Amino acid sequence: MYPDLQKELDTFVRRTPKSADAHKKNLKRIPLGVASNYRAYDPHPIFVKEGSGSHFRDLDGNDYLDHNLCFGALMAGHCHPAVMSAVEKRLSTGTMFGMPHDMEWELAEEICQRFPVEMVRFGNSGTEVTMHAVRMARAFTGRDKIVKFEGTYHGLHDNALVSVKPHAPDFGDINAPTSVPGGLGVPKSTLENVLISTFNDLKTVELRFKENPGQIAAIILEPILMNVGLCMPEPGFLEGLRDIATKNDALLIFDEVKTGAKLGWGGASEYFGVNPDIICLAKSIGGGLPLAAFGTHRSVMDLISQHKVFHGGTYNTNPVSMAAGLATFRSVLTRENYVHVEKLEKKLTDGYRQIVAKSGLQGYIISAGANGALMLYPSEIRNYRDWLTVDIDLWRHYWFGMVNRGVMAQPYWWDEQWTISVQHTERDIDQHIAAFADIAPSLAKAQQERSAVVAAH
Ligand SMILES: Cc1ncc(COP(=O)(O)O)c(C=O)c1O
Repeated sequence: MYPDLQKELDTFVRRTPKSADAHKKNLKRIPLGVASNYRAYDPHPIFVKEGSGSHFRDLDGNDYLDHNLCFGALMAGHCHPAVMSAVEKRLSTGTMFGMPHDMEWELAEEICQRFPVEMVRFGNSGTEVTMHAVRMARAFTGRDKIVKFEGTYHGLHDNALVSVKPHAPDFGDINAPTSVPGGLGVPKSTLENVLISTFNDLKTVELRFKENPGQIAAIILEPILMNVGLCMPEPGFLEGLRDIATKNDALLIFDEVKTGAKLGWGGASEYFGVNPDIICLAKSIGGGLPLAAFGTHRSVMDLISQHKVFHGGTYNTNPVSMAAGLATFRSVLTRENYVHVEKLEKKLTDGYRQIVAKSGLQGYIISAGANGALMLYPSEIRNYRDWLTVDIDLWRHYWFGMVNRGVMAQPYWWDEQWTISVQHTERDIDQHIAAFADIAPSLAKAQQERSAVVAAH
């Protein structure tokens, strides 16, 4: 381990004793001491007390500039006034009925105006809507197989838990990756129906269609891979997928759980100019409350209307989440706010690039909409296997170093990226850049020392 990483870890432990205690308590009753595996990391996760705007505080009273934002689900920032006011109004008039109400039409209309879909159904999480999207595609085409990309994350249902973070040698040849279960409990029959291709490689998609004629219902992907830091689709890749899907009478599903709200006003279809058949939305559309939706053509949704596909859910369109969602679409995800966020994103990426160049750190900065990441690679990654080559200790050195300087630069894990919320300010970005300027020289030094050791061997 790099000596400077050890120093940062020691500082982290010194700054967060109450989090350590709280984690110890949780461990007695909750596996890994956390409610979602993604929240567990060594030596212990930070336990949060409260947040507002672009900052949060932990149990020990440390203040953090927040670019984690609940794994990118808070483009609104914490407690956005418009969202809070809408939620507060609803809290005293009934929080669940399991019956229709008039906000449903309003929010469905907002979504259909903004994204290339004709009808929507609502849910509560990204997992739910990608699960329903896959089922809709299967029902519409009468086929069972889907194509998914190695390294993509679409939530926790069986079909999504295939080749999320597979390893060699299980993952096979990059030109025809093997379907690898993402843990125990994923049925073998699922693996037969989830075919894996390589992101940014159309040949690997064409191969799947050639091998399985008339059997593939859909191609599902995140238009930007955000489960490997941030990996952009190369020019022509999304267009190529659109063509392959159309030629083979399969549907194209964009998992826009992250990109839908954060790339810009119209999500990935507007950003890239490619229209999928089904769009999955979640995370930032709820402004801080659980809300998700999938939208598609009327002809696909007719399967629900005709009672051929079943979709339901006790919590669907609960008035609190819907009020938050409406306020989010109308007051948070506005064209003006995207201009604000893009301005801050540019300031942050320019700042990072200058520091990377000055410090001699080997890495690059990638950015799209409200998202960006420091990618510790010599050249731009194209797919999951490129991502695997990251120097994990160097990344941890970056993350803990930033956290110790009061900046949660992104969620913990080197497969994530930062988010800028509509409540971030120029001052916040100055704070972020100053923290990075402070830590970058020791990152560059550690990297150079490691390279010297590797060269000597
Ligand atoms: C692209 C993508 N799809 C789906 C999901 C699953 O969403 P949820 O955690 O709300 O179930 C996530 C969550 O990180 C995601 O990033």
